[in-house]
Parts: sequence; structure tokens; C-alpha cells
Amino acid sequence: MWILGCGYIGQRLARTYRDQGYPVTAVTRSEASCLALARSGFQALARDLAREPLDDLGWAGEDLFHLAPPPPDGVEDGLTRHLVAAFRQGGHPRRLVYLSTTGVYGDCGGDWVDETRPPAPVADRSRRRWDAEEALRAWSRESGADLVILRVAGIYGPGRLPLERIRQGLPLAREEDSPWSNRIHADDLVAACVAAMARGAPGQVYNVCDGHPSTMTDYFLRVADAAGLPRPPLVSLSEAAGLVSPGMMSYLAESRRLSNRRLREELGLKLRHPDLAQGLPTCF
Ligand SMILES: NC(=O)c1ccc[n+]([C@@H]2O[C@H](COP(=O)([O-])OP(=O)(O)OC[C@H]3O[C@@H](n4cnc5c(N)ncnc54)[C@H](OP(=O)(O)O)[C@@H]3O)[C@@H](O)[C@H]2O)c1
Repeated sequence: MWILGCGYIGQRLARTYRDQGYPVTAVTRSEASCLALARSGFQALARDLAREPLDDLGWAGEDLFHLAPPPPDGVEDGLTRHLVAAFRQGGHPRRLVYLSTTGVYGDCGGDWVDETRPPAPVADRSRRRWDAEEALRAWSRESGADLVILRVAGIYGPGRLPLERIRQGLPLAREEDSPWSNRIHADDLVAACVAAMARGAPGQVYNVCDGHPSTMTDYFLRVADAAGLPRPPLVSLSEAAGLVSPGMMSYLAESRRLSNRRLREELGLKLRHPDLAQGLPTCF
């Protein structure tokens, strides 16, 4: 089993497969992350997947998770394009599961959205994800290799909560201005990855979310309450524009409620943490 981009989720996934007796090869960009994985007993390689020659890595015919995020700029994912070029030249995996994001749907005005909704990415970070999906689909069609795409909502879990932002007291949009947002607990995302590799339909796309959207403000307030931290101040959207980062403003500009029916009914995933009330207490 190969895991490209073996960070927060990849390490949990690697441990899951190791516990089941599968050999795992993990790829990270930095030597430091690679060394940490090697110390935990994994076969680990440090490569910049966006730049370095990749044709000698030995993943031909194997199962592979692609969890490496696109580079930070532009509207194309040069990393995934580089990867696909390496597959074409040096051999490709048998089956690839790619972690995309639900950002590819763009702003849906708060509508309920399933996988049949035509993607309309707005933010550049989402356009890069759509570019990656398209490059992988083209490769899968021409090579015959299986591709399964997971469109992942906001990940939360132990060590993955916005506590620092809350401690800083940065303001939130007041409830009536706050967009719908969607989340998935890290444990359930790992289970979705394993299910997608084992039995995801080739060519299929699955939303990975808990199916219980709430506003972004509701999420931050619940995290603050669960952590015993003071609630951040609430401001209007126009006031927020001068007080929060452009990145956060771009998240505030997109609102959608995501269905996970396909994940539950077709992929057969039973969520351990189907909403924040059940998931947040496991994070402390
Ligand atoms: N955070 C969210 O809410 C969210 C939502 C939807 C989708 N996702 C996506 O889901 C995936 C997994 O998330 P995560 O939280 O596990 O990410 P993460 O903790 O940031 O880990 C990313 C991993 O990718 C590696 N990496 C980054 N650039 C690379 C490059 N150029 N070459 C090789 N390796 C590279 C990193 O290596 P180093 O440690 O050496 O840098 C790290 O091992 C990511 O693609 C993420 O963007 C996240």
C-alpha cells in the first residue's frame, strides 16, 4: 500500500493498514516528516512529488492513496500532473484513491448538494483540486487503472481543531451571515479511505462528510464551548472583511449542505461520529 502525502490523515491510514498486516510505503516532502515515519517503523521516502523525478519509486501495479495537496498557487495542480506523467512513463498503480475537496462545488447558495451537482469551483484552491480530478480521470480512462475520488469536507479530530484561532479571539461572522459548512471526523475519513480502496466503484466520486452541516459560526462556537475557551466576538460580514484573513473571507463566500447518502448507502460506511455532538468530545 502506497500513501503519497503521509501527514495527519495519511499516518492514521498507515497505522490502520499496518495493524491489518499490510506493508505500507509512505511519501512525504520533507526529510523531517520522512524520518518521523521511519522511526515509527514505516518504509518512508522523502520526495517533492511536484518536482523530483518519480519514475523509480516502484508503485507500478500497487494500490495507492494520493493525499498530497496541490502547490499553493495557480489554478492547476502541477503536482498531480507531474505524478500522472510519471505513471505514463514509469508504470502506474492498479488502483488510486484521491482525496479531493468539496470546494469543487463552489458556492451553492446553501443548497443541499450531492455528487451529481456539476462542479463550479470559484476559489483558486478549489480550481486546483478540480484540475487534479480531471488529470486523474483522463489518466484512468487511458490506462484502465481504477480511480476513486473522495470529496472531503472540513476535517476535524484530535489535534485538528481551530483552537489557536479561538484563543486569539478573532471575530466570527454573526450567525445570520455565516455560510453552511460541512465536516468529517478524522476517524471516519480514514474508514472512508479504506472502504474506497476495498470496494469503491471505479470512476465513482463520493462526498465524505458527516451529513450534519451547520454554519461555520456554529462550528467555532461549539469548539470553543467544548474546549472551555471564551466564545469569539460575532461581527457582520462587512466588518469581518477588515478583520479576518482573505483566505477565511473566501470560505465565508461559499455555502453548501452536503449529502453523504452515496457514502453510507453505496459505499456502505457506517459513521462512528455522525455529528459534532458525538465527534467533538473525542478530540480532547
Ligand atoms: N484540512 C481539511 O479540512 C481538508 C479538507 C479536504 C481535503 N483535505 C486534503 O486532504 C489531504 C490530507 O489532509 P491532511 O490533513 O492529512 O494533510 P497534511 O497533514 O497537511 O499532510 C500533507 C502531507 O502531504 C505531504 N506533501 C505536501 N506537499 C508535498 C509534495 N510536494 N511532495 C510530497 N509530499 C507532499 C506533506 O509532507 P511534509 O510533512 O513533509 O510537508 C504531508 O505528509 C490533503 O490533500 C488535504 O489538503 C483537507
